[in-house]
Amino acid sequence: MRVLISNLPAALLLLSIVATQAIAADIKNGSRLYNQYCISCHGQQGKGDGDRAKNEQLDPRPRVHANGDYMNMIPDMRFFRVIKFGGRAIHFSHIMPQWQHILSDEDIIDVIAHIRSLADPPFEPGMVRGCMIPVPENERTGPIKQ
Ligand code: HEC
Repeated sequence: MRVLISNLPAALLLLSIVATQAIAADIKNGSRLYNQYCISCHGQQGKGDGDRAKNEQLDPRPRVHANGDYMNMIPDMRFFRVIKFGGRAIHFSHIMPQWQHILSDEDIIDVIAHIRSLADPPFEPGMVRGCMIPVPENERTGPIKQ
């Protein structure tokens, strides 16, 4: 319940941004932030093969953001939530850190736009409905795709 309540303002903010398109995503900023904070685990191309993923044998492994078959089915809101509040906020691993004290909400939206750009097959607008999709266990711990 605590998790739900703490996520509510973020949910409303994202909805209002998307609904009014008050803020356009700045993918360049997203890419810069991703390279600064995320590639140590997720890898520069989003293949889940960053140095920490390799050296620390993280389990579960960092999500393969390049895997469009999986990523293209996940609504923006879930990415927003997991990036802002960390893995635990959506019952994922605590290894995925929270970024709410480092990234602004606008930064997170920019990072999501960058993540979407890494997908193969490519992400197309309209692929995702606003619903929450459960994550199959095998995706969460699956092998790193090269
Ligand atoms: C310390 C390593 C680490 C860092 C740094 C890290 N992540 Fe993660 N991330 C993970 C792990 C591990 C998972 C998988 C968690 C699980 O499956 O339970 C994950 C999962 C995710 C997911 C998956 C969401 C889903 O719905 O499947 C997203 C999105 C994500 N990370 C974004 C980011 C972004 C953006 C950054 C940088 C701001 C970042 N991560 C930094 C380790 C990391």
